[in-house]
Amino acid sequence: MLTIALPKGRIAKETLDKFQKAFNEEFIFEDRKLILEKQNFRFLNVRNQDVPTYVMHGAADLGVVGLDVLEEKEYDLIKLLDLQLGKCKVAFGLRKGEELDFSKSEITVATKHEKIAKKYFEQKAMAVEIIKLYGSIELAPLVGLSDCIVDIVETGTTMKQNGLEVGPTIMESSAHLIANKNSFYAKKDRILDLKNRIQEVI
Ligand code: PRP
Repeated sequence: MLTIALPKGRIAKETLDKFQKAFNEEFIFEDRKLILEKQNFRFLNVRNQDVPTYVMHGAADLGVVGLDVLEEKEYDLIKLLDLQLGKCKVAFGLRKGEELDFSKSEITVATKHEKIAKKYFEQKAMAVEIIKLYGSIELAPLVGLSDCIVDIVETGTTMKQNGLEVGPTIMESSAHLIANKNSFYAKKDRILDLKNRIQEVI
């Protein structure tokens, strides 16, 4: 049995669509059910940010998760395949007309992506105060909670509608199939077989 953690949220539909095509079967988590069993595979319906946790602890052999989420967790997992979906970037959001002021002694950044933002400023040897938020990040610079934000940009609409402009990009992201290291070596044939099946429908 292979267990695969699938994400809820923005990439859920496209991910299920890929598995549906690869398995040639309907993929629906019925009602409020969180486990789905098919052809000797077990699928878990997991919150986006929790996918790497299930895979890291071996509760799932495989998972599907955005690179941005994976980067935040800093876990040692195997990236098997870029699913080429859920494409977005992690970028700065700035108040209209403003630029990142690198001469400031300390910049305040509101973000869900604490580690990614921290690394960016470390590489520039700049002091930064990170304010961790869990959503509605765009609000922070508008009410003076922070100088700017670091957030996911897909279409750019959310920033635009909130009077922000998209600033420099920190990283590009898309959904990846990931594997637990031990699982990969113990169940290599089955995992590679699944990888190939999915690759065929990308
Ligand atoms: C992300 C992000 C923005 C929005 C950007 O949130 O935090 O609010 O999407 O998309 P856009 O550039 O197309 O407007 P998401 O929908 O992932 O929800 P979350 O806050 O629950 O992560």
